[in-house]
Amino acid sequence: MPVGPSLRQRHAHQAIHAGGLAGARSKTEEVESLYTNGNLEMADQAMVELLDYWESRILSHADAEEDGFYQEVVEKNPTLQETVLQLKRDHELMRIVVKNIHQLRESNGFSKILLHKLYALLEINEVHSQEEERLLF
Ligand SMILES: [Fe+2]
Ligand SMILES: [Fe+2]
Repeated sequence: MPVGPSLRQRHAHQAIHAGGLAGARSKTEEVESLYTNGNLEMADQAMVELLDYWESRILSHADAEEDGFYQEVVEKNPTLQETVLQLKRDHELMRIVVKNIHQLRESNGFSKILLHKLYALLEINEVHSQEEERLLF
C-alpha cells in the first residue's frame, strides 16, 4: 500500500502521535472523573467511546505503519529490521490491552481495574511514540 507523506515526515508524524495521545489522555481523565463522581453508567459510556477512539485513531495509525511505512524504512536501512520488529511488538501489546479491556468490560462491567489498564495503555503509547520518533527518523 502506498505510504502517505505524513508518516514519512518527522514533524507530521510527531503531530499525529501528539494529537492521538492528547485526545486519549483527556478522554481517559473524563472516564476517571465520571467514575470518581459515581456516574458509573456515564463512565462506562465514555469508556466505550474511548475504546473506539483507541481503535480508530491510534491502532489504525499502527496498522497503517505496518501496512507500508515500516517496510519502506527497512528497505532504506536494513539495519533497522530488529527495531521495527520491536516497534511492532509495542503495537501488538496495545492491541492486546484494548482487547482485554473490551473482554473484561463485557464479562464484569465497569470497574476500577479498567481505569488502571487505560492508564497503562497511555504509557505504552507514549513510550512507543517516543521510541519510534527517536529510532526511525
Ligand atoms: Fe507506531
Ligand atoms: Fe507512528
